This record gives sequence, structure tokens and C-alpha cells, in this order.
Amino acid sequence: IKRIGVLTSGGDCAGLNAVIRAVAYRAIRTYGWEVFGIVDGTMGLMNRPLQYRTLDLHFFTGNHLREGGTMLGTTNKGDPFNFPMPDGSKKDRSQDFVEGVKLLGLDALVVIGGDGSMNIVSRLCAAGNIGMVGVPKTIDNDVHCTDTSVGFSTAANVVTEALDRLQPTAASHHRVMILEVMGRDAGHIALNAGISGGADVVLVPEVPYSLEGVADKIKEVLHGEGRSHALVVVAEGCKTADGETPTISYAGGQKRYGGIGHYLTEHIADLTGAETRVTILGHVQRGGTPSMHDRLLASAFGVHAVDLVAQRKFGKMVAWRDRGVVEVPLDAVTIGPRSLDPNGTLMHTARGLGIYCGDFER
Ligand code: F6P
Repeated sequence: IKRIGVLTSGGDCAGLNAVIRAVAYRAIRTYGWEVFGIVDGTMGLMNRPLQYRTLDLHFFTGNHLREGGTMLGTTNKGDPFNFPMPDGSKKDRSQDFVEGVKLLGLDALVVIGGDGSMNIVSRLCAAGNIGMVGVPKTIDNDVHCTDTSVGFSTAANVVTEALDRLQPTAASHHRVMILEVMGRDAGHIALNAGISGGADVVLVPEVPYSLEGVADKIKEVLHGEGRSHALVVVAEGCKTADGETPTISYAGGQKRYGGIGHYLTEHIADLTGAETRVTILGHVQRGGTPSMHDRLLASAFGVHAVDLVAQRKFGKMVAWRDRGVVEVPLDAVTIGPRSLDPNGTLMHTARGLGIYCGDFER
């Protein structure tokens, strides 16, 4: 091995730059390799001229460990096997990617991504016989085969802090605050931060809920326990009671819901008589300085990923298990729902505290 590439793929999160830094430090300082950072995920290798940055030791000014986002840029513009063209058609551009790797003379690639993009890049690498090692990242914490991924801890901290800020204003105005958080298919952010931030209701895509259940909990808090305010956390991917995700916009004067947060805000007010307000955190959860935990995870993953490349152990993803880094086969990292709470600890804790988390026991 003489020269490696590193790229970030899919949605950004805090800690990506810390992984890139760790990959470069280990590759250059320990192994004496050249390291190229590929710009905008797979796009940098598909475009001509190639788009990349030379990541030598002079490049790292000292800030990268602390900075959110990705210094390389990223894209979730689509699958190179089915690349969306301007005329609306799809084209297989996988060979452009493979050729890009050869043109740059890369001996291997470190790919920092979620399960979807890692799966696509590993198929690209298999098509071109390119050595690849994956590093899991996602705020949603839904990559299989690892206890946690880079970006989750920071996002969950942001949500916890949001609850810390919402509670005093909720208490001052005697209101029910509804906080909508990210998580299209996974409730890890909502459940972890909901417990940590003192929520009364936590709704996750994995557990069906009922409006009556939510309203009963809020009435119990407001009237039974005499607290004048309540906090509700809802993951964006939660379905309404009838299984529909509320749709966006006000069409032709007819009111439609702007998302699950707005839907709950209106219905909770109707069902409980309480004054309600909604906050939608959105991409605030993805930016900002990585937490201590994300920096540590990113650093450990980066170093270990380069070690796997040095050993030519390709087709692997680094993973966190039992307080350490292990390697898992990339093809075991399947796409799809990953258990929210494998041993039941979080739900047991939440329900033990009296938090309403849906009507169905898991
Ligand atoms: O997959 C991570 C995630 O943060 C989801 O929770 C969210 O729905 C999505 O990305 C939004 O991504 P974007 O706005 O970049 O498409």
C-alpha cells in the first residue's frame, strides 16, 4: 500500500472531520502513505477532472478535530449504478468511479458512511476490485453490527440541550412543548435524548402510539400531578394513529399538517385543553462541534480502519462493541431497521420513569 483515498458519503454529522484526521494521521505518521481526500463522496471520483485534496500533515491546522460537517463535502445525490441524469433518465456510471480510482492510483479506499451509502460504495469497489474499509456514521444510530456510530452522540446531546432550554419556558407559560427530532425510520435520538432531557412523552417510529395515550399522559401530568407543563419528543418518522405520515403545506386554503410535530401540537391542544407549541430541530442536530464521545469514536475508528487497510483486510467495517473496536464483514451490514433497544433497557427505563412511549410493549 502506498496511496489511499478517504471519502464521506450520505448525510453529514458531527465527527466526520475527526475520522478524516485520524485516517490521515495514522496513514501518514505510522505507515508513510499518501492520503487523498475525495471531494463530494463518490462524485469526486466520477467527475473529470477528478476532485480531491491532498491530505498531508500541513493540511491539518489543528481545528479539524473540533469542526462539524465534512471538510471534503458529501452527497446523497444517488447511486452511481443508477445515476440521475439532467433529462430525468438514469445511467450506470459505476465505471467512471472505478476508472477514477485507477486514475488517482489509489490502493484502497476508506469510506465513511451510513448503511445505505456504504452498501453502494462497497458494490462499486467490488465491481472494480478495489480494497475498501468502511467507517459507520449517522446521527440516526441505525447502522447494523455496531453499538453506535459517529454523529449520534452529538445529535442526542443537541436534543437533550433543546429540552433543557424548552423546559423553563414551558414551565413559565404553563405549556406543553412538542419537540420534533430527526429519525425517519429510527427512534434512537428521540428515546435516548427523551430520557436524558426529562420528557413526559417519547414517540418513536418503532412503537405505534395513540393520540388518546399521549393525551392521557399529559392530563395525568397536568391535572393528576399538578405540574403545569409537559415535554413531548417525537421522531419525524412517527406515523399518526391511522398509520399515515402527515403531509406538508396549506393547499387551496385547506389546512394540512406540516409534519408530525404540527399534527401533535394541534391534537394535543384539542384533546387536553392545554396550550401547545412546536419546535422542529431539523438540521441543527447534524451540525456543530462533535461531543467528546464522537471525537473518541471517530479517532478510534480512523486508526483501526487504516490498520485494516495495512493488513489488506478489505470488505470490512470497523464497529464499536463491548467498549472497543472490532471489524465486521461489510456484507453483514444489511440495510433496514435495526433494533432500537436490543435488551429492553431503554424502554424499561422510560416506562419505569412514567414516560409514555406508545401503547405496545416490545
Ligand atoms: O439519515 C439521517 C437523517 O438525518 C434523517 O434522520 C433525516 O430524515 C435525513 O437525514 C435528512 O437528510 P437530508 O435533509 O440531508 O436529506
